[in-house]
Amino acid sequence: MGHVVVVGSINVDMVVAVPRLPVPGETILGGTFSQHFGGKGANQAVAAARIGARVSMIGTVGDDELGERALEALERELVNIDRVRRVPGPTGVALVVVGPRGENQIAVAPGANAALTEEEAESVTGADVVISNFEVPVRVAVAAIRGARLAGAEGILDPAPAHALPAALLELGPILTPNEHELVVAIGNDDPTEALAELADRSAGPVIVTQGPAGALLARGSDRQHFPGYPARGVIDTTGAGDTFVGVLAARLAEKRPLSDAIQAANAAAALCVSQPGARGGMPTRAELDAFIGR
Ligand code: RIB
Repeated sequence: MGHVVVVGSINVDMVVAVPRLPVPGETILGGTFSQHFGGKGANQAVAAARIGARVSMIGTVGDDELGERALEALERELVNIDRVRRVPGPTGVALVVVGPRGENQIAVAPGANAALTEEEAESVTGADVVISNFEVPVRVAVAAIRGARLAGAEGILDPAPAHALPAALLELGPILTPNEHELVVAIGNDDPTEALAELADRSAGPVIVTQGPAGALLARGSDRQHFPGYPARGVIDTTGAGDTFVGVLAARLAEKRPLSDAIQAANAAAALCVSQPGARGGMPTRAELDAFIGR
């Protein structure tokens, strides 16, 4: 069993489902409220654990009740939390508004996630695959990928929320998993085709552009390979679909599967994720994933 270490955010999501997403300045009535566990890092950890990877989380939660409950939720998913530190102040919270086709708007108060240090992030000995993202400070995510390199592990950097990618990160050669918006912001070019060409040229590692229901596009240097998405059985909530993709990708790579197999499994898991409410509601177990893929 491969060991996935996630250096990333842990949030609690306050979710309102609405008949349509509001425009700036608008109030929409009629939604129902629910609370879910979230945070890109913690979601990625759960996605990997559900399909059978050994997963450890490195992160920070506050000393409030939400922090306590977020940790309990990770433990229930068999994610090791020995290296999650509790810090004074609030746990990260995301306000999530979900529209009728599962589309969302998200605003995040990072809270305790901002307290994670580069020293904590870089110490990833024993990992087969290390994941990080930008809901922790960028320098901390870079330290995690540096740690992966030093430990001889595969590094996956999910550049979300969107942020320019520092040269020091690209030189380390992690697998990058931007969606189209994150791709253009990552490189500072509004044309996605040009942005991908530039990023694939500058990055020492592969770039996987996630395309929602259309699947994923793998770019290595000037090579391009498209992996079609799987049809979802009803789209309720797309929150966490990208995290599911990344977590499952990591779990498969930790099993020493080829990148193409890992991308196909990640596409399938993301399609399953969107059919239930909440970031983690539809994340598949190993048996559910295998049945969906038809293996
Ligand atoms: O990617 C989805 C996640 O982004 C949510 O769970 C929310 O916490 C935000 O961080």
